[in-house]
Amino acid sequence: MSEVREAVRSRYAGVAKQLKVIQAGPMDRNAGCCQADGPDCGCSGSYSAADLKAIGLSESVSLGCGNPTMLAELEPGQIVLDLGSGAGLDVLLSARRVGPSGHAYGVDMTDEMLALANANREKSGLTNATFLKGTIENVPLPDSSVDVVISNCVINLAEDKGAALKEAFRVLQPGGLFAVADMVELEPLDEMVKKQLDSWAGCISGTIPIEQYRTRLLEAGFRDPDFEVHATQTMPGVEGKVGSAYVRARKPG
Ligand SMILES: C[S@@+](CC[C@H](N)C(=O)[O-])C[C@H]1O[C@@H](n2cnc3c(N)ncnc32)[C@H](O)[C@@H]1O
Repeated sequence: MSEVREAVRSRYAGVAKQLKVIQAGPMDRNAGCCQADGPDCGCSGSYSAADLKAIGLSESVSLGCGNPTMLAELEPGQIVLDLGSGAGLDVLLSARRVGPSGHAYGVDMTDEMLALANANREKSGLTNATFLKGTIENVPLPDSSVDVVISNCVINLAEDKGAALKEAFRVLQPGGLFAVADMVELEPLDEMVKKQLDSWAGCISGTIPIEQYRTRLLEAGFRDPDFEVHATQTMPGVEGKVGSAYVRARKPG
């Protein structure tokens, strides 16, 4: 495993343990926006209280930088894949929306996150959700097997973003939707920051500019990439240089 991937894996193994304690506690933490030293990676999205209640979870399990489930009009019977599913929130919300005739998959490389996601699935009572161990650069699902790929604050963590986007394209059906929340670089980051492993694992150093992201999506085969920046990082040193964006694209069909 590369140094960067190991830094990411070990950070989220630790975060999974923190989340387990938080979830078991009398009060969930407030999902803070862009906390520099907390478990948050970006600015978590807004989730409907009714949807959260239906799956028995709170927004505090989100480590994301948006709510990708808002970007896709999920329909009963569809197959959804979440790249880097963490504690499972977006997978379980999707599973509820696609109903028993559909299925939601989450892929994550961190055992501790997979254990937490499986515990949350049990809690939700949903049976049409599966968490798979794997990497987003090598997804353990067949070609053209999903209708919608979602992801929340994960692709920026990949060393080879081109490989992750090609995998998303491969597993999508023709006409399938890529609907992702991710962190992007809005202004050049200092070279020193770019080299810090903890800053990479914290969704800062691994970010790329929107134009580079667009090029990688087009190279993977996607059509009509669209970006919408909805929040900017407030952490001193990188303030305003990194932002949370919604990214949409289609596999031609
Ligand atoms: C910032 S958290 C986001 C989790 C979740 N998407 C959410 O919104 O709460 C990043 C997650 O992606 C996983 N991850 C990071 N890089 C990965 C990779 N290359 N392949 C698979 N999982 C990865 C981590 O284990 C972690 O669970």
